[in-house]
Amino acid sequence: MLLKLGLPRITTRSLASAAKPTEVQRLKTFKIYRWNPDTPSEKPYLKSYQVDLNKCGPMVLDALIKIKNEQDPTLTFRRSCREGICGSCAMNIGGRNTLACLCKIDQNENKQMKIYPLPHMYVVKDLVPDLTNFYKQYKSIKPFLQASKPKDGKENLQSIQNRQKLDGLYECILCACCSTSCPSYWWNNEQYLGPAVLMQAYRWMIDSRDQATEARKEMLQNSMSIYRCHTIMNCTRTCPKGLNPGRAIAEIKKSLAFS
Ligand code: SF4
Ligand code: SF4
Ligand code: FES
Repeated sequence: MLLKLGLPRITTRSLASAAKPTEVQRLKTFKIYRWNPDTPSEKPYLKSYQVDLNKCGPMVLDALIKIKNEQDPTLTFRRSCREGICGSCAMNIGGRNTLACLCKIDQNENKQMKIYPLPHMYVVKDLVPDLTNFYKQYKSIKPFLQASKPKDGKENLQSIQNRQKLDGLYECILCACCSTSCPSYWWNNEQYLGPAVLMQAYRWMIDSRDQATEARKEMLQNSMSIYRCHTIMNCTRTCPKGLNPGRAIAEIKKSLAFS
């Protein structure tokens, strides 16, 4: 009957050959910065975790989530979108500030991977930096359109050419990778605004609809807010979105010099 219906005959042999061969493990070591504010007398340290690359997604964020789910629920880090949009998984991976969700795991399991929080920031816990000052600085540049409403009550329109001037600026996700890679920001982060915030200041300065350009420039005309930038360009090198905050800062300096 079975043969008549065209169904395959199941034998002990075919069952044996269908069994999945035991996969070899590919264990890679992740060394992760740990610090717990509940035990402040304990110094920060690197904790090692081993992850089987055959059972892990390709990105560093996949490994962190796997470690948290399967080995250590106390490991703390920020993440949300897992596709480079929210900016919350910024951290220092293998010596470079980047987004864990966009950073591929080096598939060489003999190489350890070290992960730290963004450098030169206060740490809330483990891989979570305190971004309070960063957001305060962002707020200080008034990152919104300052323009009187059009009299006809319609939208505040912009030509295609003027809109294009914002390309390469508006895409910033405020991950802070650039600012925390900038030596000038490390030493003066109370007064120097840093590349991420300055790029957004520039984005509003050149928006054709904005009417507060002079006030925006005025705010930057002092020795600290922008002139601590020494064109080291770490910011541009590290940006995980491929943006160029160093160039935006140079453009602001040019427009301040000629105003
Ligand atoms: S170019 Fe300016 S903002 Fe960028 S890393 Fe260098 S000093 Fe910092
Ligand atoms: S410029 Fe790049 S690195 Fe800096 S905050 Fe924006 S997206 Fe992040
Ligand atoms: S999780 Fe949103 S940018 Fe990485």
